[in-house]
Amino acid sequence: RGQGMSASSTLTFKELPHALDAHFTVAQGYNAQVLVSWGDPLFADAPRFDPANQTEQHQLRQFGYNNDFIGFVPLPMGSDSSEHGLLVVNHEYCRSGMMFPGSPDELQLSEEQIKVNIAAHGLSVVEIKKHSSGQWQLVLDSAYNRRITPNTPMQMTGPAAGSQRLHSQYSTDGVKTRGTYGNCAGGVTPWGTILTGEENVDNFFGGDFSQSGEVENYQRFGMQEVFHTSWGLLDKRWDMRENPSEPLHVGWVVEIDPYDPHSVPKKRTTLGRYKHEGANVFINRDGRVVAYSGDDQQFEYLYRFISKERYQPDNRKANLSLLDEGTLYCARFADNGSMQWLPLVFGQGPLTTENGFQSQADVLLDCRKAADLLGATPMDRPEDVEVNPVTGQVYVMLTNNSRRTEAQTDGPNPRAKNLAGQVLELTPPQGDHSADSFSWDLLLVAGRKGDAGTHYHANISDNGWLACPDNCAFDNLGNLWIATDGAEAFGVADGVWATEVTGENRALTKRFLRTPMGAELCGPFFTPDAQNFFCSVQHPGDGSSYDNPKTRWPDFRDDMPPRPSVMVITKQGGGRIGS
Ligand code: FEO
Ligand code: CA
Ligand code: CA
Ligand code: CA
Repeated sequence: RGQGMSASSTLTFKELPHALDAHFTVAQGYNAQVLVSWGDPLFADAPRFDPANQTEQHQLRQFGYNNDFIGFVPLPMGSDSSEHGLLVVNHEYCRSGMMFPGSPDELQLSEEQIKVNIAAHGLSVVEIKKHSSGQWQLVLDSAYNRRITPNTPMQMTGPAAGSQRLHSQYSTDGVKTRGTYGNCAGGVTPWGTILTGEENVDNFFGGDFSQSGEVENYQRFGMQEVFHTSWGLLDKRWDMRENPSEPLHVGWVVEIDPYDPHSVPKKRTTLGRYKHEGANVFINRDGRVVAYSGDDQQFEYLYRFISKERYQPDNRKANLSLLDEGTLYCARFADNGSMQWLPLVFGQGPLTTENGFQSQADVLLDCRKAADLLGATPMDRPEDVEVNPVTGQVYVMLTNNSRRTEAQTDGPNPRAKNLAGQVLELTPPQGDHSADSFSWDLLLVAGRKGDAGTHYHANISDNGWLACPDNCAFDNLGNLWIATDGAEAFGVADGVWATEVTGENRALTKRFLRTPMGAELCGPFFTPDAQNFFCSVQHPGDGSSYDNPKTRWPDFRDDMPPRPSVMVITKQGGGRIGS
């Protein structure tokens, strides 16, 4: 039993010490398997990874770069298998200097390298199976396996689909669209689809947009004329001077049906356009679908969507369009522990033609501006938002905000120059997620133990503190597992911490694993039985280069750069993760 834990604790694993080294390390008594790494074949005919001679054609048949969100859906569909299923993984972005020999600058790539870089984005879908040995394996001849890339045909759906503002050379109807990138976190729906959030999409564009007609929108989104990646140098699609409406095709939540490898992914405009960290859905007690999502940028907002129609457990086909009709809300907090959800509906309040909105499509396309006008509360970078399956309370990872001033501090964002973040807890009244008003509390305020302004259980150990909560997951007992991105700035490796959220061990965080140096930890996801824990090691060795990496994890071979990889953690001898 950990220091200070009560007898009732369900998190009895032996806590891992803080450290910062070249390795991935998990608490004693657990196994960590590298399940799939950048470049690994996803198809029986895919070529073996050869980093010195990587090509676009190879990359399109291999696992992509910088894995982030992970979703696991069971096979067969509708079962609750924890030993057979489909793994769906986001590939958020690339760091070319870590990918190619010679450590090239992002804007100095060859044409083939740009194509590799593009093809390494998007998502991978791969069938996986657990063998009697306890080891997981990829099923390479599975018909489900799929790469989704920035070029995959997709469709805009919901109120903004068909908007004149989305018309372009490629999208002659504003409905047809292509691809996804900047995919950060996401969620799995109860009907077995994947939601993936398009986050920092401004990074992929450049070019003069002063004539685009979208100057206000693009400035609000942080678009810049200068190119940060090579994409727009190869393909004018990402040059805003040539394709002024292309940025409006990204910044959405995309729904993907992994059970149908030929399905066309749908961009659900009803959920609004902003820098979506991800989206997680919860079925309200009246059957309506509630989706929570954060806009991950300093001083941006928290959102909630409620569907018009109800979830039908036995009608998957109907559920597949639930996210196309409903109401989007932004959050306003009061310091007295209450908060309000404000509807983003064209014609209501300030969302009128006088303020530049002609339709609901405009409200969704200019979501940030609409939320500004409603008086939403600027937050400390809202990342993952998840509902505790046991209590129904909502948890928001607020990762940090170095720019908040003393005068800008408030209840849910209590610190100026906030470098370590906090975890916010929302409580719907009587468990009704459609209520206009919730109450809120801070579960914890992160940072080094004892630092001013931090808040944890009094009995956390010297290894129990964390910094920069980013992603999270709940196990089936309602324990919260927090993944971090930024603890290295505090001298310790990023990783995962677990805590109970109710009772006498509330906010008694314990370190469960550590990433190799340079990496953040993301995508935590449990199988239904909570005996397998998937997680993403993203950008291992970041801050160094292909030619001189500070770690060669996980291969530790002179001819291999560090490779972003998905890990699966199991308890030795079997059992629930955390026990
Ligand atoms: Fe891609 Fe919000 O982290
Ligand atoms: Ca994230
Ligand atoms: Ca999550
Ligand atoms: Ca991150």
